This record gives sequence, C-alpha cells and structure tokens, in this order.
Amino acid sequence: MKWLVTGGAGYIGAHIVRALNTAGHDVVVLDDLSTGLRRKVSEGVPFIQASILDTDAVTSALRTGLIDGVVHLAAKKSVEESVHNPHLYFEQNVLGMMSLLDAVKAAQIHHFVLSSSAAIYGSPDGQRVSEDTTPLPVNPYGQTKLAQEWLLADLVNSGYDLSWTALRYFNVAGAGADDLGDTGVFNLIPMVLRALDQGQAPQVFGDSYPTPDGTCVRDYIHVQDLADAHVAAVAHVESGSRSSVFNVGRGLGFSVLEVLDAVRAVLGRSFDHQIAPARAGDPASLVAAVGRIDTELRFSAHRDLTDMVASAWSAWQAFPPR
Ligand code: WQD
Repeated sequence: MKWLVTGGAGYIGAHIVRALNTAGHDVVVLDDLSTGLRRKVSEGVPFIQASILDTDAVTSALRTGLIDGVVHLAAKKSVEESVHNPHLYFEQNVLGMMSLLDAVKAAQIHHFVLSSSAAIYGSPDGQRVSEDTTPLPVNPYGQTKLAQEWLLADLVNSGYDLSWTALRYFNVAGAGADDLGDTGVFNLIPMVLRALDQGQAPQVFGDSYPTPDGTCVRDYIHVQDLADAHVAAVAHVESGSRSSVFNVGRGLGFSVLEVLDAVRAVLGRSFDHQIAPARAGDPASLVAAVGRIDTELRFSAHRDLTDMVASAWSAWQAFPPR
C-alpha cells in the first residue's frame, strides 16, 4: 500500500517517513513547511508543499498519487502556545482535520493512522494512564487532539468505511539521525540545550507539584521508537483492523529534575537550573500504561532516557536550530 504522510517534513514526521520506507512502504509527503524542513525529506521521496486546509490540493494529492492510506501528523503541538493562542490550534488541528477528512472521502481513502496525544487525558489521577481513562484535556492542544479522534469515530459512525488507528504520543525526544533533530525548540530537552548554548541556566517550570521532587513527571519515548510504533500501526490498519487507540510511551516517568541530571551526565558537565513559575496547562504527571500496544501490536519501546538525551545532543551539535 501507498501512504501519504502529512507533516512528513517535521521532527516526528520525518522519522516516520524514513521508518516506513525502510519497512518497504511507498510514501508521499505533504507538508506546508510552516515548521517542517524540506531537507528532512530524503531524495527520492515525492514531496508536495501544501496545507491540509487546502482541501482541493489534498484531494488532488490523494487521487493523483494513487494513495491507499494517510498517516496524519500535520498539526500545531505546543501545549504552552495553545494556551496563549487557542484559535490557531482549533483552526490548524480541527478545521485542518475536517478538511483532510473531506479529501479522504472525496478520494475514497479507507486507511488512516492519526497522531494523537497524551494531552487528551489532562491531569489524570493514579500512576499510569490507560486508554480507557476518560479524556479530560486541560489545555487547548489536548482539546484539539481529542476532537480529531472524535472526527474519525463520527465519520465511521456516519457510515464511511475507514480502518483507523490513533496513537496517543507521550513525550517524544531524541533523534534517530543527526539530520533529524528536534529543531522546533518547544520541548524540555531542546529548550535545556538552547539555554546551555546561550550560557543561561535552564528553567524548571514549577517545583511545587504533587510529585516526588515537586517537578512535573512525564513519560519520555525516543522518537525512533515512536516511528517504529507507526510501522506497526500501519501494518495493523492494512490488515483491516477497525478503529483502535493506543498509548505510545515507555510506562516510565521522569521528573524535570531527573531529565536535567540525565543532560548533566551525557554532556559531562554540571550546570545550575532556575526555578520559574509553573506553566499554565501543565498536568503534574502523565505516564502511560502500555500493555495494549504491547499485546495488540507487539510493540514496546526499548531506547532509554540516556539514548534520548545523547542523540538529541548529537543532532543539536550537527544541525544547530537556526
Ligand atoms: C515537559 C515538562 C514543562 C521546558 C509535550 C508536547 C505535546 C504532547 C505532550 C505529543 C513540562 C517542563 C519544559 C522547560 C520545563 N506530545 N519544562 N522547562 O508540555 O508535556 O507536552 O508532550 O503530542 O505535543 O508538547 O512537553 O517538553 O513542553 O514539557 O520545566 O524549559 O517540562 O513544564 O512539565 P509537554 P514539554
């Protein structure tokens, strides 16, 4: 089967494109390059520069490209930015998804893998979050990702034949290759590396959370493991599985302070950090229950926090974000 990857020139998307190609799938990339980088799409991979909001352009790409399925990543994904600019997030992530699904119907596409997010859970109680937890997003980003899942489920309930899977990403970090590092600098590890590059103390957004050391706990997963999870999800959807949702994480939580210590160990240098005010929209802890993806897709992540920090640092040095 042939897959269109929207957002395939982005940090996560570019890893997924290469992993799908390595697994023998035909892939076409559609990206508006608003945050993605053209250099991240390998030579020989067909590339279409377009916005998912341009329904006609997407329909044409699906039809002329003889596409069988869509892996959808093109979206805005910063929790902090979504709090300050919710309208932008609903326009890109919800209207964009509606436009893409109009194109999917027009081109009669029947296979879909959605990049969803742990942000839909909000601030759940308990140690690990299972897929059966009631979604209660606490920020606009999480609201828009939940709306994307609703749009898929409602499209099927309306009678459209679609085999779809949603992957609820936890915190993605690291790089599968030096040219694929996270140049967005919206997330903890690249923000720490940028602060250090600028001779500044990295900031810790709040240290009074109800967690062991008072700082937020997240479930970090290496971006290469995440890409491998998409190869498994594509195979699952190609087999004709009906709608399914999977957490994608490691089932292990690390606090912000523990991540800073991992950075110190990998860089081999000590540095101070600065406690800053808590960030609006941040849940105290988000750690995945990962039994379902292990059982149903036979997938489990195997790279650890040190791998994530070391690969992020190597990519940062090779291709410093502009
Ligand atoms: C992690 C923790 C910050 C920077 C991410 C993605 C989102 C979604 C869920 C996929 C938070 C703290 C950060 C800094 C800090 N993933 N922090 N100092 O907010 O958990 O969301 O995962 O859909 O797309 O954004 O990730 O890396 O921004 O923050 O203390 O300089 O680190 O407050 O507690 P977040 P993050």
